[in-house]
Amino acid sequence: MKLISQVSEVHEFIDEYRAQKNTIGLVPTMGFLHEGHISLMQRAANENDKTIVTIFVNPLQFAEGEDLSSYPQNLDKDINECEAIGVDLLFIPSSEEMYSQPILTSVQVDQLMSTIEGASRPTHFSGVATVVAKLFNIVGPCNAYFGEKDWQQLQVISTMARDLSFRVKVLGCPTVRQSDGLALSSRNAYLTPEEREAATVISRSLQVASENVQAGETSASVIKSQIVDEMTAETLATLDYVEIVEGSSLQTIDQITEGARILIAAKVGKARLIDNVNPYFGIK
Ligand code: PAJ
Repeated sequence: MKLISQVSEVHEFIDEYRAQKNTIGLVPTMGFLHEGHISLMQRAANENDKTIVTIFVNPLQFAEGEDLSSYPQNLDKDINECEAIGVDLLFIPSSEEMYSQPILTSVQVDQLMSTIEGASRPTHFSGVATVVAKLFNIVGPCNAYFGEKDWQQLQVISTMARDLSFRVKVLGCPTVRQSDGLALSSRNAYLTPEEREAATVISRSLQVASENVQAGETSASVIKSQIVDEMTAETLATLDYVEIVEGSSLQTIDQITEGARILIAAKVGKARLIDNVNPYFGIK
């Protein structure tokens, strides 16, 4: 595995890969890798000749007062995991390498960025879209893998790739969960054992909602208020939002239909956790 930190080195390897007609799978991450990331990396390795993983805690997507400076890291472990999976290129740039000049350009995806998570974190998705656009340009044509865990992020990135004609196929991958339903997240590391237990209320309420929808309840307001009740009963969790939307446009809906998504964000201790489900499938 090649471990590199310079954009110019990525270009060199990519040029070689392309000369040999290799297909390229890209998995962008912020590191502190867990089984969710690993599932993306394994899929990329299975479906492509060469796999590129990036680890970069992107300052642009963190607002003042968020957890940029305390974001968990374990580079040695991450490097070993990438090696074990058979990643070909691990790109770990510094902030200076990614943003050598003050960055004056940003990517906006109208309508998809200002709602749901974007209403709570107004600058977040522009930071995500901008860094992902840079990575897509650095790597060039490839298959790029993103988790459904960050559903709104997946819609923002897919739409950006389509609208700006990137030669990148954006592929969504299912959410990996612990056995009690909690979605894996680097931010779970912030939880105390008691909070870790309490955090299961998020996936539990999504699963109960899914069962109610599958039993015939299609009113979004009824399902929403059931989730609010369930979340409120857990005193260690503070609900930020529950939204029920059409899955790709992210427009709020009154009646739940097959393409619907229910999205939740909640604060548990120091961690702000997000999760989502298609209620017709439920938490698997
Ligand atoms: P990060 O949170 O490190 O996640 C990297 C990728 O792993 C994202 O596509 C995310 O959706 C996926 N992922 C996280 N938890 C998952 C889980 N439990 N199951 C399946 N996939 C999961 O998301 C980011 O980094 C950044 O915003 C990034 C796209 C790298 C841009 O900076």
